[in-house]
Amino acid sequence: MAKSQDQSNKADAQKQQEQRIQYTLSKIKNRVVIFSGKGGVGKTSVSVNLAYALVQHQYRVGLLDADITGPNVPKMMGLQGFPLTDPENQTISPQERAGLQVISIAPMIPEDAPVIWRGPLRSSAITQFLADVVWGELDFLLADLPPGTGDEVLTTAQKMQPQAAIVVTTPQEISLIDCRRAVNMAKKLEIPFIGVVENMSGLICPHCGKTIDVFGRGGGKSMARHMDAIFLGSIPMDLAVRSGGDEGIPIVLSDPENPASAAFIEAARRLVSTLSS
Ligand SMILES: Nc1ncnc2c1ncn2[C@@H]1O[C@H](COP(=O)(O)OP(=O)(O)OP(=O)(O)O)[C@@H](O)[C@H]1O
Ligand SMILES: [Mg+2]
Repeated sequence: MAKSQDQSNKADAQKQQEQRIQYTLSKIKNRVVIFSGKGGVGKTSVSVNLAYALVQHQYRVGLLDADITGPNVPKMMGLQGFPLTDPENQTISPQERAGLQVISIAPMIPEDAPVIWRGPLRSSAITQFLADVVWGELDFLLADLPPGTGDEVLTTAQKMQPQAAIVVTTPQEISLIDCRRAVNMAKKLEIPFIGVVENMSGLICPHCGKTIDVFGRGGGKSMARHMDAIFLGSIPMDLAVRSGGDEGIPIVLSDPENPASAAFIEAARRLVSTLSS
């Protein structure tokens, strides 16, 4: 008897959470997940810079850091402080920096502490963010995911019901193999638009300005074509992208004329035109 009461309470709580998610989503026009088959290819850099490129076009933008074990978004945005919680209404207010709203687990855990959570717990943290964060009306909500095709990707895609997935890859074959898996996952999840960004596409030498194709070039574009995905552009490898990330001042904000910034801005433009087509 007690057990069935417990089960029915759980079912009620789940139903209420689902309703809160639906309410939140009803106020967000475009939802986009950013993921990759392989780690370290630049998902967070792409997420943060794309988000700011959209902010610069006067869109209302939110960024959900869905990487629970490696939450790097706040560091890359130079975000300080904590999100405000309202225990009575069970809501969380996103933080804001330079016009971009953001939620991440990073400010809620000690800086160097590992998050040793199994998949279901990580998924429930994302679900809670989707249910409880009060974004208000948004034109875009972007979610920066951890590498691979695991629990967080599945949960975010199922709960957030994104209209677009952006798969980030670097140009070399070893990354493209994993990227194909990620594109196929997005297809299986029936995400309507799948975009590909090729990052670290040629290093611009800070001394002579010439381009060195460290990881090759063009693989992302031809892969996108073969897989019927939309190619959103190539972002060059540039020291300023890395230092901007480390210093918490994304390059799109600090130097919009930089070729990497221009590539992020163009990728944002292509995303907008894809979603409004
Ligand atoms: N175009 C670029 N030029 C130079 N450095 C870059 C570029 N893109 C990303 N980086 C740097 O590469 C490193 C990895 O990038 P980032 O953290 O964005 O990758 P990620 O895919 O999110 O990684 P993870 O899989 O761990 O989440 C960072 O130090 C970042 O500053
Ligand atoms: Mg990342």
